[in-house]
Amino acid sequence: PSAVIVAIDGPSGTGKSSTSKAVAAKLGLRYLDTGAQYRAITWWMITNGVDTDDPQAVALAAGKPAIVSGTDPHAPTITVDGVDAAAPIRTREVTAKVSAVSAVPEVRTLITALQRSIAAEETGGIVVEGRDIGTTVLPDADLKVFLTASAEARAARRSGELRGQEAAGLAATREALIKRDAADSGRKTSPLAKAADAVEVDTTELTLDQVIECIVTLVEEKR
Ligand code: C5P
Repeated sequence: PSAVIVAIDGPSGTGKSSTSKAVAAKLGLRYLDTGAQYRAITWWMITNGVDTDDPQAVALAAGKPAIVSGTDPHAPTITVDGVDAAAPIRTREVTAKVSAVSAVPEVRTLITALQRSIAAEETGGIVVEGRDIGTTVLPDADLKVFLTASAEARAARRSGELRGQEAAGLAATREALIKRDAADSGRKTSPLAKAADAVEVDTTELTLDQVIECIVTLVEEKR
């Protein structure tokens, strides 16, 4: 079957987005960045004066923004109420607040439904990256990958991404990243976790191309 569904989960700084996009492009699949959707809803909350530390306020507002994801791996897009949100969802403020917003069950219910409907569209297979794709969103995925890397490698990659945008020291980046992963792993609803049937790939000592090649091979074995 060509409509293969690939779930790629793991903490931040493992190269998840670059890897997932490249795998989708190589295999002619669609691509969905679920972190971007949680960032988009967080950005909307901030812009509309919702206190992101108040789970009740976040729950009440969760259904208001219309989030639309474009799934072309060569040019993925995200809009909120028709406005291009690609840049504003990457600010440090959104990054600092996204874990609190994404821990709210009402937010997860809505975004999970959105993700499932995108994956089910009859326009071919898809690579979906996130934290709970293999465990919760798409438990029947054809292939589940869980990416890991040492804390040092993840912090170094993340500050590489941030360079030029918002200069952040390596130590500060490492601290923020560890805090976010702890929040994402420790929350009650659908925490970051490796599915029992996921293939774990430790990317610490691998180049991006090696990780891509490894996952492409795993997908081809499933097809
Ligand atoms: O992948 P990215 O770092 O952009 O994700 C941003 C945040 O969105 C994560 O730290 C997490 O709080 C949330 N997220 C989630 N479930 C997903 C994907 C992302 O809770 N499937």
